[in-house]
Amino acid sequence: MKATHIHLIWGTLLISWIVYLGVLLAEPVKSESLLNQTEQQGKQLWQKHNCQSCHQLFGLGGYLGPDLTSIQNKIPNLDAFQILVNTGNQTMPAYNLTPQEADALYQFLLAQNRPGPITPLNHKADLNGWISKK
Ligand code: HEC
Repeated sequence: MKATHIHLIWGTLLISWIVYLGVLLAEPVKSESLLNQTEQQGKQLWQKHNCQSCHQLFGLGGYLGPDLTSIQNKIPNLDAFQILVNTGNQTMPAYNLTPQEADALYQFLLAQNRPGPITPLNHKADLNGWISKK
């Protein structure tokens, strides 16, 4: 194969890649949160207090404390949750959460185990790989 052919192939590949990248980056990233406002506040508290350093969600996080993905199976109501988190234990510090904060955090954790609303019936895969509403 001649050197010019190789240059042509590489040139075509490079130009295709640049065009593809341009199309990909021109599309704004959509971030529809599936969390409501209270749950989002809970998420911020989860991050602020670094609960993830000891607890996992979906198996990701620290391993000092238990996985909290399906918390409602173990802690059935907000009162129990609030007492637990505000009392702490030998390993976990006691957090001074207000009832409103405890509620937000509990709602955030409950939301983790909620079935996702995305079904192939009302969503489609875009050319760039994003999933969007029909
Ligand atoms: C320093 C580590 C650490 C941090 C940080 C931490 N926890 Fe814990 N947590 C633990 C440990 C360890 C346990 C288990 C104690 C036991 O079973 O005796 C626990 C237990 C719990 C439980 C009870 C779970 C169950 O299955 O009984 C809840 C709920 C909980 N933590 C929530 C939180 C929240 C919310 C935060 C952040 C605000 C947090 N934890 C931060 C260590 C931690």
